[in-house]
Amino acid sequence: MRLRIGLPSKGRLAELTVQLLRQAGVNFRRSERALFARAREFPVDMTFLRAEDIPVLCTEGAIDLGITGSDLVAEASVPVTERLRLGFGNCCLALCVPEESPWKNSTELNGKRIATTFPHLTHAALQARAIEAHFVPLSGSVEIMIQLGVADAIVDLVETGSTLAANGLRVLDEIGRYETVLIQSPLGREPALTDRIVRRLEGVVIANAYSLLEYNIPRDRLGDAERVTPGYKSPTISALEDPQWCAVKVMVRKSLLLEAMEQLEQIGAVAILETEINNCRL
Ligand code: PRP
Repeated sequence: MRLRIGLPSKGRLAELTVQLLRQAGVNFRRSERALFARAREFPVDMTFLRAEDIPVLCTEGAIDLGITGSDLVAEASVPVTERLRLGFGNCCLALCVPEESPWKNSTELNGKRIATTFPHLTHAALQARAIEAHFVPLSGSVEIMIQLGVADAIVDLVETGSTLAANGLRVLDEIGRYETVLIQSPLGREPALTDRIVRRLEGVVIANAYSLLEYNIPRDRLGDAERVTPGYKSPTISALEDPQWCAVKVMVRKSLLLEAMEQLEQIGAVAILETEINNCRL
């Protein structure tokens, strides 16, 4: 039997997802606007779907694995298993109001009209805050609904904040944080192949998030250096010809790398080199 993976057919997620699968050695060619593609090296078929349908289709077993936003998984509220966070598509779902509006607190929105494409998450968030509002459920373009006079506030995803800025809106309250995830169907078909693909993707996700850092450090400063770069599990320490010095090889989160290099230099490390990691198994 072939494993079926559901991928977003368009948008930002689509490109990053294909890139990630290629890095993991799952290669396929999608002819323009085709809904299916067959992987070359594995008995795996890709199905290109709307990102918001992937959680439900995965639950129903139409696909065995799916890549989509954890916001859409939460909104669908379905019993899929989250196998992996993919390290991109980070965003937050937020209650947003016009820049110039007087509201400082979400509880002030009692009785107001709120437009969203996330009715379930919004409803749960409002209930938790004891807010009763009139819902305007939509399937897109939520950011213009206040201008259109349809709503007083919106609940929408915020990534860089540029959509909000372009529409004269600001965040009043954050409802949840989300990212792109790999989900598995509760039917659990082809478990061995599924685990193999998950492990491969995991190797790539970690490799994308980390760099390999190497440096030499006086032995008596090693403790300080290890506090700056504790490693994924623990750093590798090797002896140097000069017994007063040692060499360290350690994985460092890319987001912390430059600061770590500066701190290491201050502690007395020399020959600090960063190397890109293409893939890994830890
Ligand atoms: C989402 C969301 C916002 C935008 C936020 O839309 O609905 O409109 O991204 O991102 P920003 O803070 O970086 O501007 P998306 O582009 O995913 O497409 P959609 O309109 O189909 O939801």
